[in-house]
Amino acid sequence: MPFLSAAAAAACVVFLVTGALALQQPRPYPSYWLPHERDALLVFKQAITSDPAGILASWPERDDHHRHEQDCCRWRGVRCSNKTGHVLELDLRNVGLVGEISNSLLSLEHLQHLDLSMNNLEGSTGRVPEFLGSLENLRYLNLSGILFSGTVPPQLGNLSKLQYLDLSAMGDVRSTDVSWLTRLQFLLYLDLSWVNLSTVSDWPRVLNMIPSLKELHLSYCSLASANQSLTHLNFTGLEVLDLYNNDFEHSIESCWFWNIRNLKYLNLAGCSLYGRFPAALEQMTSLRVLDFSDNHGERKRNMTVNLKKLCKLEILNLQESRSYGDVTELFDKLPVCSSNKLKELHLGSNNLTGVFPNWMGQLTALVILDLRGNNISVPLPAFIGQLAALRTLDLSHNHLDGVITAEHFFNAKSLQYIDLSHNFLKIEISKEWQPPFRLSTAMFASCQLGPLFPAWLQWQVDIVYLDLSRTGIAGTLPQWFANTFSNAIDLDLSNNQINGVLPRNMDSMSLSYLHLGSNQLTSQIPPLPRNLTYLNMSMNSLSGPLPTDFGFPYLQVLSLFSNQITGYIPRSICKYRISVLELSNNNFSGKFPSFVQNCTALQVLDLAGNKFYGRLPPWIGNLKSIRFLRLRRNMFSGNISIDMTSLKCLQYLDIAHNGISGSLPRNLIGAMGSLESLDLSRNKLSGEIPESLSNLTFLSYMGLSYNNLAGRIPSGSQLDTLYSENPAMYTGNAGLCRPPLQKNCSRNDLSKKGHTEINEDHGQDFFYVGVECGFIVGLWVVFCTQLLKEGWRIAYFHLSDKVCDNLFVLMVVSSVFWQDLPRR
Ligand SMILES: *[C@@H]1O[C@H](CO)[C@@H](O)[C@H](O)[C@H]1NC(C)=O
Ligand SMILES: *[C@@H]1O[C@H](CO)[C@@H](O)[C@H](O)[C@H]1NC(C)=O
Ligand SMILES: *[C@@H]1O[C@H](CO)[C@@H](O)[C@H](O)[C@H]1NC(C)=O
Ligand SMILES: *[C@@H]1O[C@H](CO)[C@@H](O)[C@H](O)[C@H]1NC(C)=O
Ligand SMILES: *[C@@H]1O[C@H](CO)[C@@H](O)[C@H](O)[C@H]1NC(C)=O
Ligand SMILES: *[C@@H]1O[C@H](CO)[C@@H](O)[C@H](O)[C@H]1NC(C)=O
Ligand SMILES: *[C@@H]1O[C@H](CO)[C@@H](O)[C@H](O)[C@H]1NC(C)=O
Ligand SMILES: *[C@@H]1O[C@H](CO)[C@@H](O)[C@H](O)[C@H]1NC(C)=O
Ligand SMILES: *[C@@H]1O[C@H](CO)[C@@H](O)[C@H](O)[C@H]1NC(C)=O
Ligand SMILES: *[C@@H]1O[C@H](CO)[C@@H](O)[C@H](O)[C@H]1NC(C)=O
Ligand SMILES: *[C@@H]1O[C@H](CO)[C@@H](O)[C@H](O)[C@H]1NC(C)=O
Ligand SMILES: *[C@@H]1O[C@H](CO)[C@@H](O)[C@H](O)[C@H]1NC(C)=O
Repeated sequence: MPFLSAAAAAACVVFLVTGALALQQPRPYPSYWLPHERDALLVFKQAITSDPAGILASWPERDDHHRHEQDCCRWRGVRCSNKTGHVLELDLRNVGLVGEISNSLLSLEHLQHLDLSMNNLEGSTGRVPEFLGSLENLRYLNLSGILFSGTVPPQLGNLSKLQYLDLSAMGDVRSTDVSWLTRLQFLLYLDLSWVNLSTVSDWPRVLNMIPSLKELHLSYCSLASANQSLTHLNFTGLEVLDLYNNDFEHSIESCWFWNIRNLKYLNLAGCSLYGRFPAALEQMTSLRVLDFSDNHGERKRNMTVNLKKLCKLEILNLQESRSYGDVTELFDKLPVCSSNKLKELHLGSNNLTGVFPNWMGQLTALVILDLRGNNISVPLPAFIGQLAALRTLDLSHNHLDGVITAEHFFNAKSLQYIDLSHNFLKIEISKEWQPPFRLSTAMFASCQLGPLFPAWLQWQVDIVYLDLSRTGIAGTLPQWFANTFSNAIDLDLSNNQINGVLPRNMDSMSLSYLHLGSNQLTSQIPPLPRNLTYLNMSMNSLSGPLPTDFGFPYLQVLSLFSNQITGYIPRSICKYRISVLELSNNNFSGKFPSFVQNCTALQVLDLAGNKFYGRLPPWIGNLKSIRFLRLRRNMFSGNISIDMTSLKCLQYLDIAHNGISGSLPRNLIGAMGSLESLDLSRNKLSGEIPESLSNLTFLSYMGLSYNNLAGRIPSGSQLDTLYSENPAMYTGNAGLCRPPLQKNCSRNDLSKKGHTEINEDHGQDFFYVGVECGFIVGLWVVFCTQLLKEGWRIAYFHLSDKVCDNLFVLMVVSSVFWQDLPRR
């Protein structure tokens, strides 16, 4: 009896619930009258192997006895017709589903809208399912971000009612023939971005046969050209054309789309187009966005086309487009309309010269003005201060000169981002001035700001990024420093003459990046912000020992070289995952710190020029990620018992100027395949040079001078080249002889052959010069490009994630080298 009543109660509940639902949303044909559609959805669910967000939890299992009473129109992501009860829409966008798209969807004959984008539904075959082409009522199909491979099935051309088709970012998908698209005569929106269309040369002709098209996205499609000629342009309705990042390499004038008058958005960024804009651009009066950035190529271009009639233009992006000429000429071509809508002007990284026209003050809608990296060499005009909407002003890396006063900013109330760095500007603002803006980013590197720390910054409590490097600031940091900049993430005050003691309350700051290098700071290092990832206080006069609890959970780079810090290295430094530790040229002492064993992420360790002593511990060989190990000019002794065979990443090893004795172990070097520089000079090494040295094919510098090495010098093309470039590399080893030069090796030695006259540091100089001009500079070029694009700190940490990544090291290394250079 109790069982029965429970069952009755349950049935009653079901009845009441479905009844209530029915009341809530009256539907003449409840969906359980269409059981095949509900079952189709349940089969679809069965093909889903993982649903971490529990999206399909509201869908019952297929063997659930009550499924027949379930109204599938109330399941998450499902929408039905109010009239017929048929499933019209399945929207499961970006819900983290894993599995396969079941062909049971074919039973949803009335489905109009299918959005499965951003899920892992590529299934075991990884193919775009062909059966989707049979869902003939579809108006909207979105498979964007499903990582399919293979080809786009031409069956999709059967979806003759389709209006929206988004197949973007699908992974490694290609199509060699897109003629099936012509059957989609109602298509309004097409996105095939990232589908490889490299062999489809007639794409404009095909698309020209879909006159309904309003929006077309073909970015990253490897399209080979856009210079096809179309006899008749029936694209009158096209509003959005996005061809971002295709490699056309023909003249911009020959593109097929210049006569589409209704175009509102035209993205040609990264298309390798060259030459001038065609006159037809002057008539494209609907244009709101023109993005022509990142078009490099051989030929420079000068804006000869008048944009005066483009009254609706909001964004003009000519960043990195090899544009040259006078900015006045360029600005004179900009729209002049009663209601100027121009909001963003990106003209950075070009070769523009000249002066700003004064009428620019009329660009009252301007929000972003970016002219960085040009050749503009005039005083900054005062009209900038009239641009009340201006939020971002980037004039960095130009030749601007003159004096900037408070007047330049008198009405700049919206300013949040200002970058005037790397110009010849002097900023003279009185102590009393209260800015009308609240900046989040202020970059003034190498502007003349000092000698006093700019008082007006005191009000800029929203600052996140502040760069005051090389600005001539002297004296102590202001009292309000830590409080005002308590929200800052990134502070660069390097290369100034800031002196005195650091504020004691810096530990409350949020800083992640702090660069105070090359100043005149004295005394002990105070407690510092806990969230630091990069800390550089090198080249100051800091003294005293480091605090015993000196260590930061996120710290990756610690650079304290060239100070007068004494005592031991606190073991807390290695509690976390530090990768760069530069402590050279201080007065640290003690044995080689044993806790360094725990620094498993260490890539650069520089302890040169300190007072360390004792043996080099064998476990140095366990520092698997180390690339730079510089221990020169200490008092290390004993022989080398390090097992170097596992130091697979080591590129730079310098133990010169110590008291290391014993022979060079056979396994010492032979296995270190990445080694580029090896300096063991000025030690007490004896015995022979192992043959395995000739296996170091990347070696570009070696120093073994002033040891007690003896015997035959191994030969090998690499070693011979090194020797011819640096004949001093073996100097000062009385017992060494070199077969190519000596007829009878056993009796002669090099030191008697006049090589002793050569200054031992000659080789070292050669190396630095070589490294500086070749390796480092070459990579810096790459890096600087990155720098301009992303902001270098982002690039920095981005790169540091990779093990054995050359780019990462180069930047760090540069400082390792530079610290020695000035002294020579
Ligand atoms: C069904 O009706 C509801 C409420 O009356 C409405 O919000 C919904 O858009 C309708 N659905 C369809 C497909 O028309
Ligand atoms: C398709 O889905 C993606 C990602 O979910 C979305 O960004 C895009 O706007 C959608 N496309 C259309 C045409 O709605
Ligand atoms: C769908 O298109 C393919 C090729 O594009 C064709 O072979 C097939 O017959 C079509 N199917 C239907 C049901 O129309
Ligand atoms: C596109 O396909 C062609 C050959 O079909 C290939 O050479 C090219 O590398 C592909 N492009 C991309 C970006 O994968
Ligand atoms: C579009 O123009 C082409 C000529 O380029 C023509 O052959 C075609 O019939 C036109 N298509 C439509 C649908 O109007
Ligand atoms: C189109 O540009 C390609 C280079 O991308 C060139 O080889 C070809 O001759 C051009 N075709 C026309 C019709 O101008
Ligand atoms: C830009 O091109 C036009 C037309 O060829 C020419 O008259 C003008 O001098 C050029 N401007 C510059 C700065 O070279
Ligand atoms: C600017 O012009 C100079 C000299 O013509 C050239 O060396 C430089 O690469 C150009 N810079 C840019 C950003 O195009
Ligand atoms: C910058 O402009 C000056 C003349 O104003 C010119 O001499 C110099 O070559 C230009 N530099 C670049 C990189 O174009
Ligand atoms: C430090 O970082 C953590 C995690 O990113 C954050 O929650 C915390 O607020 C930060 N602390 C400070 C003082 O900014
Ligand atoms: C390494 O770290 C572990 C755990 O944090 C600690 O117990 C050990 O003493 C450390 N080793 C050295 C040599 O400092
Ligand atoms: C030098 O390299 C060769 C081939 O890569 C290898 O067989 C040999 O053992 C290496 N010699 C030493 C001493 O490591």
